[in-house]
Amino acid sequence: MNDKTKGLIFDLDGVLVTTEYNHFVSWKKIAKAIDVSFNEHDNEQLKGISRADSLKKILELGNKAISEELFEELLAQKNEFYLNSIKKINRSNLLPGVIELLQSAAQMGLKCAVGSSSRNARFIVTKLELDFYFSTIVDGNDVTFPKPSPEVFLKGAQRMNCQPNECLVFEDALSGVAAARAGGFMSIGVGNPLLKNVADVYIDSLTEFRLEAYA
Ligand code: BG6
Ligand code: MG
Repeated sequence: MNDKTKGLIFDLDGVLVTTEYNHFVSWKKIAKAIDVSFNEHDNEQLKGISRADSLKKILELGNKAISEELFEELLAQKNEFYLNSIKKINRSNLLPGVIELLQSAAQMGLKCAVGSSSRNARFIVTKLELDFYFSTIVDGNDVTFPKPSPEVFLKGAQRMNCQPNECLVFEDALSGVAAARAGGFMSIGVGNPLLKNVADVYIDSLTEFRLEAYA
């Protein structure tokens, strides 16, 4: 059971904003270019993990080996596709309940952090004008060991001066729930039915979450 909650840590893609789909579409283009079949079911394995680990998974799925040079080129190309697809990202791309939950947390004196594997996380948080709500952002540039390692969440908790058992982690990915568990955090699975029996608590949407029950 959690101690009194002092901090909330949010994954970004698929929890705060709809960008998980943009990642999927961009990877699908890359997979096609190297002749690997790749669908939404395969994509579940990619959710939450780093850019390089994602490409490794796609190569594994297609049983392909490529040169280091092509590997780097495909990573750059994927990011280009992705950034192009989110050029017009704005608050209409937020998932339901985000602003309300961030506002409640602020009113209750809880700190909030972003804990994301994405190297684009800061850029996106700023585009969405959400910086104000977060006391810290830990992203893919800040960690040595990406999810499912707990490093990203442990750093977030540390920067908020909280212990893991004083934080809640909101996640939409299997790798993210595994990272939360490995770090001793209570996990709230959001909007991905695959997390129903995996996360400590499951909700279809942040609109269902009652923060008062944890603080
Ligand atoms: C995670 C996403 O948040 O970030 C993954 O769930 C994505 O789909 C990963 O691949 C890395 O993102 P980026 O923006 O650094 O390529
Ligand atoms: Mg996610």
